[in-house]
Amino acid sequence: MHHLSTPLKACAAAAAMLLALTACGSDNDGGTASGGTFDSALAFDSAKYTTINVTIDGVKVPVRWYKEVCYVAKPTAVAATQTTLMGTTTTIANTACGYQSMNIFVPESAAANGDTALYFAVNNGGWYASYVKASVTDGASYDSTASNVAAALKAGYVYIDVATRSRGLAAADGSWPGKAPAPVVDAKAAIRYLRLNDARMPGSASRIVVNGTSGGGALSSIIGASGNSPDYLPYLAAAGAAGIDANGRSTLRDDVLAINAYCPITDLGNADLHYEWLYTAFGTRAAVGRNPNPAGSAQLAAKFPAYQQSLKLSNGSGAALTADNMMDQIRQEVIHSAEVYMAAGGTIPDLGEEMSYASGPTTKTYVNDWLDVDNGTKKVVSIDMAKYLKFVATQATLKAAPAFDQTGMTVTGATGESNLFGTSSQKYSNFTEYGWDNNDARGDGIGYDDTGITGNRYFSLATTPVMEQVKLINPLAYIATSATAAPYWYVRHGTRDRDTAFTVSINLTRALQADPDVQEVNYRLAWNQPHAGNYDVPEAMAWIAQTLKAAAARGL
Ligand code: DHB
Repeated sequence: MHHLSTPLKACAAAAAMLLALTACGSDNDGGTASGGTFDSALAFDSAKYTTINVTIDGVKVPVRWYKEVCYVAKPTAVAATQTTLMGTTTTIANTACGYQSMNIFVPESAAANGDTALYFAVNNGGWYASYVKASVTDGASYDSTASNVAAALKAGYVYIDVATRSRGLAAADGSWPGKAPAPVVDAKAAIRYLRLNDARMPGSASRIVVNGTSGGGALSSIIGASGNSPDYLPYLAAAGAAGIDANGRSTLRDDVLAINAYCPITDLGNADLHYEWLYTAFGTRAAVGRNPNPAGSAQLAAKFPAYQQSLKLSNGSGAALTADNMMDQIRQEVIHSAEVYMAAGGTIPDLGEEMSYASGPTTKTYVNDWLDVDNGTKKVVSIDMAKYLKFVATQATLKAAPAFDQTGMTVTGATGESNLFGTSSQKYSNFTEYGWDNNDARGDGIGYDDTGITGNRYFSLATTPVMEQVKLINPLAYIATSATAAPYWYVRHGTRDRDTAFTVSINLTRALQADPDVQEVNYRLAWNQPHAGNYDVPEAMAWIAQTLKAAAARGL
């Protein structure tokens, strides 16, 4: 929403528009709100911690650990045996609330500090359900220039590991309770718990900084975009979240201050269009011999220009950001990335020389045939985009086509996000027209092959939940709407990340720049980084520190 200077004004405006809303009468800064049906069951017990000790940069730091704090009153009972993203099984101890809990770590020095930031780490790698984890372990030693966990504790922030339901989660009753928007609902429920208990807890719930990578970067982005949206209230009520009254209305806020997101796998409903457009524009798929479905790739890529046009984004120089100038936007972002790297003292090999890059534990090389730089002036002379994309697709194998809404359910090695969608009684559902129309798994009840209904028609039926699910996890559906966007954003996407198209984070950040709620978007392709996050701890932490100061100066 447009920034309103006082909560009172926001309430008056909302009442005038007859909206069932969110922020009115809620506590912003330390008071304890009342009125939520589940609030009394969700009171934080400040005495319930154990003290652990870690060593950060050689200095012993005592930390209060609030273990597995369940942030909802009606958690989903889950099966003791769960399947991981990698397809192995794991047995979990906390079947009652292990996917809706937080581990909260408070540096002893901040225990009485009601103003410090809450570093809110979402852990749903792969868009997968994340069981509650502990990033801080007793007796461990950390380097604060390499570990974001250590840097957050050293800065005196409260570090919070947040678990959420998401795809792949098996309930005790055999259903699939992690379908979209479950991870978003759970992260919002956790934020509401922090808001509800602000006066009882160290730190300030007005200073939540969300950190996440990949699936977590996507979750961070939708959390940051959709603050206080009423769309999630029925789901929050069903989960027993804080700040939901008997009429299903909100008595608490769930917007956040800042987002620190890496390689967000977002805009899932259109991610296949992005991906095939990017990797067929110069024939990259064919060039690297990873072209399993040329006709499908072409069909998906052909839909990208109209989709891009429909977003009505600007390229930053006042012109529309379209498929026609998008490749040049990517080129400019890569140039910027290389020039920032050189300005910071990095050296880039000349044309014809070997560039090296990390591939897991090994270092590999690639003959630089795409980037001409002048290390003297620290400027890029030229980039050959076709060869750049070939480099990206060589150092990590491109995904299947389609990449996100899989069609080859029966094909070994099929990957994708289809099990994030559908009802809790369905294992998965296609969520795009292409996926639905081309689903090849007879007997799964999904797709044109089983139903005889086209995707176009199926997704328009009122009884189909999928389009709503796609919307509820998509930041682009909320940016520049009446939802409250986080004012501060730091987004990174590696220059050799092939997990989603560069256009996804470009669109996200261009959209944010046009939202009046947003004060700052610090976006860059991260030089020579793969699909990864938290590789820039000193820079990201300096940004957070500066953001907290800027926010305080604005009275936030
Ligand atoms: C992640 C990676 C993917 O390629 C994807 O499609 C979703 C999530 C991840 O690393 O979290």
